[in-house]
Amino acid sequence: MNALARGGNAFDAAVAAAIMLGVVDGHNSGIGGGCFVLGRTAAGELIAIDGRETAPGRAHRDMYVRDGQLDPLASQIGPLASGVPGQVAALAKLSLSYGRGGWSSSLSEGADVAERGYLIGNATASAIRRKSPSLARFPAAAEQFLKGDGSPLAVGDRLRQPDLGRTLAALAREGPDWFYRGPFAEACARWMAGNEGLLDRTDFAGYVAKSREPLVTSYRGHQIVGFPPPSSGGMHIAQMLIMLERFPMGRWLSEEPATAIHVLAEVMKRAFADRAHWLGDADFAAVPRGLVDPEYCRQLSAEIDIRQAREVRSHGMPPRATDDLFNRRHTTHLTAVDAEGNWVAITNTVNTTFGSCVVIPETGVVMNNQMDDFSIAPGTPNAFGLIGAEANSVQPGKRPLSSMSPTIVLNSDGTPRLTCGAAGGPRIISATLQCILRVLDQGLSVDQALAAPRVHHQWSPDRLMPEGDWAPEVLRDVESRGHKMATPGNIGIAQAIERTPEGNLVAATDPRTEGSAAAD
Ligand code: GLY
Repeated sequence: MNALARGGNAFDAAVAAAIMLGVVDGHNSGIGGGCFVLGRTAAGELIAIDGRETAPGRAHRDMYVRDGQLDPLASQIGPLASGVPGQVAALAKLSLSYGRGGWSSSLSEGADVAERGYLIGNATASAIRRKSPSLARFPAAAEQFLKGDGSPLAVGDRLRQPDLGRTLAALAREGPDWFYRGPFAEACARWMAGNEGLLDRTDFAGYVAKSREPLVTSYRGHQIVGFPPPSSGGMHIAQMLIMLERFPMGRWLSEEPATAIHVLAEVMKRAFADRAHWLGDADFAAVPRGLVDPEYCRQLSAEIDIRQAREVRSHGMPPRATDDLFNRRHTTHLTAVDAEGNWVAITNTVNTTFGSCVVIPETGVVMNNQMDDFSIAPGTPNAFGLIGAEANSVQPGKRPLSSMSPTIVLNSDGTPRLTCGAAGGPRIISATLQCILRVLDQGLSVDQALAAPRVHHQWSPDRLMPEGDWAPEVLRDVESRGHKMATPGNIGIAQAIERTPEGNLVAATDPRTEGSAAAD
């Protein structure tokens, strides 16, 4: 809101919000992590900026093998867990190309709050408590998030981050080169060299936030604008919507929820099986465009029996799989829209809570653990239980596959209707899909859509996870159709803004966590 009041547009507001989230919600996202930015300018231009981390130049496929044994924790905590952070480059690109000069004031505002500190609430306190053994391993992280006696900061304690304040102030003054080609890159490379990490100055100097072509597909007369690989979210939300087009989802969600859940689980299984096989950074792996071919998706959909779950043994075979390719509780999502018609959705992340738990000394920067989003060995699940294949193997300079799914829905005339996205690893994809269905098909408002219960199925493990709010008889009906049920849990934390058919802008934030929309 401050950025808009200073004369900025939605893009400036989104940059300011992303930076501030890194200060007041740094266990979820921050400048040591990455992001995907999806936007639509008032003039109708679609933007996709890829600020995903890249693997170090010295990364290799056996980097998590110790004495012949895979060490899956090494991709999650410590020096080998981080890729080159991309958020600074992506936000700078958004600010310089589409904003109105708000970079310096937004960064300074973040610097100020980091320096002054703030009283922490439940979410931050519980994140620090859960991660305190890992944070304690890295002195700069311990200094920032634990008390002198090693106990975690608790609700009501003031979190001051003076090093992060100085880092943000320097970025405000000097711009992203300070981070990629100057003092931050040097500090990070020095720490990595002293701690058996691989990231070095060349990795930072070579980092670019890439402009990508948004993935545009259609669903019941709307244009669905999603993020292309290395996001898997854009692709699989599109795939699932096309599979769902033949079903009366609006009526089922209102009147026959068990059938809606069953069909959602069946489309999710097929989409996530394709994800595990085909998806990776399309600059390195052959990701077929045919995955969103309407005919292919209809074939997948035709396998669905609305009474009975069917086993999905493996991925599908999209058309032109080798010659029409894409290379031409943690995490946070934000959206901003202004009166002129600029729309933006950004998902930001350091990956899991506090990323690698490493804070680079004297910078206050929490480093991501995005390397865990690679498939570190065939069939070995990552922190989200996801498995992957060759397309998502570790390679120098490659970006790990992501589920982050910033999405914009346009009406058939190209005017914006809805934007949404979520936090929550692979559950991001399911949460975003269900927000779209609840608004477009069921006719709910964005508040109601975000509050409505969700389901998630990621093919492997073969378990359907419901949220706790579904009626027990609905879940019994779903189970009777042959689904193996998982213990209920939260499915994503989503944010959305819609332009109602009457022309009003309405913002909503997920009731599953603290917080509220800055304007509604
Ligand atoms: N780090 C979570 C994701 O990008 O999917």
